[in-house]
Amino acid sequence: MSPTPLSSDIQAIFNRIAPVYDDLNQWLSLGQHQIWKRMAVKWVNPQPGDVGLDLCCGSGDLARLLAQQVQPQGKVVGVDFSSAQLAIAHHRQMTQYAHLTLEWVEGDVLNLPFEAATFDCATMGYGLRNVTDIPRCLQEIYRVLKPNARAAILDFHQPQQAWMQTFQKWYLRSVVVPVAQHYGLTDEYAYITPSLERFPRGSEQVKLAVEAGFKQATHYPIAAELMSVLVVSKVSP
Ligand SMILES: C[S@@+](CC[C@H](N)C(=O)[O-])C[C@H]1O[C@@H](n2cnc3c(N)ncnc32)[C@H](O)[C@@H]1O
Repeated sequence: MSPTPLSSDIQAIFNRIAPVYDDLNQWLSLGQHQIWKRMAVKWVNPQPGDVGLDLCCGSGDLARLLAQQVQPQGKVVGVDFSSAQLAIAHHRQMTQYAHLTLEWVEGDVLNLPFEAATFDCATMGYGLRNVTDIPRCLQEIYRVLKPNARAAILDFHQPQQAWMQTFQKWYLRSVVVPVAQHYGLTDEYAYITPSLERFPRGSEQVKLAVEAGFKQATHYPIAAELMSVLVVSKVSP
């Protein structure tokens, strides 16, 4: 298995891919990522007036979907350490959904710049697989959530069935990397496969969440097991 890259390398990758990130996401998932992101938002049961957090917000897709649910009085904070991604998030908000209350914060999700018990709900899309210290990230999420809050963490998932695993490997190698190559970003996208191999499986994610303090953690494979959502809660059901 390849070693975990440095945080600064990951930051550099996401700054470099920022200009094409949204287009590639849309093409490579055939628009399906919007459905998966909506599912993640639904799982945290956001209410009007809530203060939500979207971790590793990138260009702000998931933050926007969450913000739509907490309006009119609520707000969502998107946090990411890529200034290039945040610039796009801010521009998209100003040009496409200025009516939503969103705040963009440049910061490290391993050391969140927020007080304990600040947020009513949190989402994270394709972020946990990319952080260099997953237990620390889960502890930080636990710390900043209010006592009865939930978080939903969407990411790639390695399917159980052999033929789906083969399909996923083929897709990442033969579709994602060549498409990225077209944009001059081969290395940046070739990074997905090793990051997925290193990513803890569902039961391990649940164990790490419980160790971080969550009272309840459930891992849901979705999209024919190609993706999953880890739903964590600070209170028992
Ligand atoms: C694959 S993108 C996901 C963006 C967005 N959530 C989405 O679903 O489209 C991963 C994001 O995580 C951010 N990221 C990775 N590690 C981070 C860290 N330690 N702190 C803050 N952001 C981080 C990257 O800058 C990048 O924008």
